[in-house]
Amino acid sequence: MTKEGFTLWFTGLSGAGKTTIAKLVEFLLQDKMKVRVQLLDGDLLREVINQDLGFSREDRMKQIKRAVFMTRLLNQNGVHVLASFITPYEEMREYCCSHIPNYHEVFVDCSLEECIQRDVKGLYKKAIAGQINQFTGISDPFEIPLEPDLILDTVTELPEESAEKVLSYILDKQLI
Ligand SMILES: Nc1ncnc2c1ncn2[C@@H]1O[C@H](COP(=O)(O)OP(=O)(O)OP(=O)(O)O)[C@@H](O)[C@H]1O
Ligand SMILES: [Mg+2]
Repeated sequence: MTKEGFTLWFTGLSGAGKTTIAKLVEFLLQDKMKVRVQLLDGDLLREVINQDLGFSREDRMKQIKRAVFMTRLLNQNGVHVLASFITPYEEMREYCCSHIPNYHEVFVDCSLEECIQRDVKGLYKKAIAGQINQFTGISDPFEIPLEPDLILDTVTELPEESAEKVLSYILDKQLI
């Protein structure tokens, strides 16, 4: 029987560093250690299969539920998953935790001020100007994760340091 894969679920504000870190971890696992891993990214899912969804609480929940469904399929077939989604509500993270057997929550912690400063996609500027509604951290809540398995402080750490911490966590927990 195939051994169930694990899932690292990266949660945090837009611009906190979820995608950046997940990609670095993907490189470390896949290219360096030859471990089968799949990155599932919120932006990509919205672009490809969730074009029908907006940013209401209900639609955000749907985005997560579809991602969890895909994650389950991959994990059941022995593929590890690095999932990078804002996942702003505790209800969502509880859903992930209860539906993904080998679930590990990584809180990519970055202050709102720093995210606004980075404004990688230029969306904070628009949200603050009122041009975008329901933007996490500005006009929609981000509920701080209650019991993350790992916290990465991306205000003080470099992306490579954060990725190394994730790798250490994976090795410590003997996930691979
Ligand atoms: N320790 C760190 N870890 C990750 N990113 C960092 C760190 N320090 C600085 N950064 C920078 O912060 C930005 C994070 O952007 P990224 O797209 O990864 O965020 P995100 O959390 O995926 O946002 P979104 O939810 O909008 O997709 C990048 O420009 C990255 O270089
Ligand atoms: Mg991202």
